[in-house]
Amino acid sequence: MATDTKTKRQSQSGDVLTLAAERAQRYVSAAGQRRVAPSEADVAALAELHEPFPSLPSDPSEVISKLDELGSGATVTTTGGRYFGFVNGGMLPAALAANWLAGAWNQNAALRVMSPVASELEEVVLGWVCEALGLPADCAGGLVTCATMANFTALATARQALLAREGWNVIEDGMFGAPPIEVVVGAEAHASILKALSLAGFGRKRVTTIEADSQGRMRKDRLPRFSKQAIVCIQAGNVNTGAFDPAEEICAWAHEQGAWVHVDGAFGLWARVSPRYEYLARGFEKADSWATDAHKWPNVGYDSGLAIVRDGAALRASMGITAAYLTRFAPRTDASHAGYIEARARGGIMGVAKIAGPLRVVRADRADVCSRAAVCGRPAGGRIRRVERCGDQSGAGVLW
Ligand SMILES: Cc1ncc(COP(=O)(O)O)c(C=O)c1O
Repeated sequence: MATDTKTKRQSQSGDVLTLAAERAQRYVSAAGQRRVAPSEADVAALAELHEPFPSLPSDPSEVISKLDELGSGATVTTTGGRYFGFVNGGMLPAALAANWLAGAWNQNAALRVMSPVASELEEVVLGWVCEALGLPADCAGGLVTCATMANFTALATARQALLAREGWNVIEDGMFGAPPIEVVVGAEAHASILKALSLAGFGRKRVTTIEADSQGRMRKDRLPRFSKQAIVCIQAGNVNTGAFDPAEEICAWAHEQGAWVHVDGAFGLWARVSPRYEYLARGFEKADSWATDAHKWPNVGYDSGLAIVRDGAALRASMGITAAYLTRFAPRTDASHAGYIEARARGGIMGVAKIAGPLRVVRADRADVCSRAAVCGRPAGGRIRRVERCGDQSGAGVLW
């Protein structure tokens, strides 16, 4: 009897996985023909999801079928090659497949002891990303959900390091009464930076905003001299124009005064991988920390943010979580670099396939991810706007 129940459960779990794979494959193969925005009828059908909390278990296959039947129609088809909104990426087949396997593994990447493979792969991914982006090989990094959290991670680390120079332990003593830090942003900094700064205890109204030029680049000639410790936030890729702040000059000037330079390179930092566009992103390697997303130009699935920091000790001091039961930290874990005690193995398990896919494309045939991403300016006197999209999808498109 017990054996019968076990066999039934096993076959049920096999059935539901096969069904999900079939439905997913059907979705993927039709993506190129699907409309991008869902129809009103498909969106209206979502009302059917609002049913009372079930009092009895449901058949897993019915749940998956219903999810597909109600849900797939109401997706925005970002993966089909004809989606040109926002800065959303597509998803490479290798990334999707690795995501499935990672789902089956269900690893917790927080501690090496919980998942040796996740921890090892995170190291590999960070090493590859630093190599591809031309950042120092000995940087430390955290694999986080998104660029906003990567910005936050890096800025919290900058805060920790600069206050430590003043003899202030921000982890113990917080920001109340802490020595002041001047924070500088460009007038066209992305909202994500302002959010991350506010989370790190730097109020939005307290930052010094530097005028931008007609392309939204921070004007280096408008930077003030600092009278205290300072963080300068620069941008690789303006979300409106694609423009890059003059990193080389800003880094030289800021470092001369002991300031920390942080780069929001959510999408633009990947231009450094492109033989055609890397000149735009020169000088950004001189910064102290970087935030980027693998779910943008590299076209890997959500949620794949990366925080990379030159000073690994500062990152660990800022983001590490310690507790008696977490003492057996091995070299690389999310609990010591990204502030997670439970995290899916996003970078580690999936990263290899996700990041290796597009970067190999770059190396192999130069039809690279970033070269087909337009980095274009504002027409004189006009508003934006033309953005090309890329990945392994066909062609470019015009936005708004
Ligand atoms: C320049 C820039 N910074 C930060 C972000 C925020 O990224 P995320 O949504 O992954 O937090 C974006 C998003 O488009 C961006 O373009």
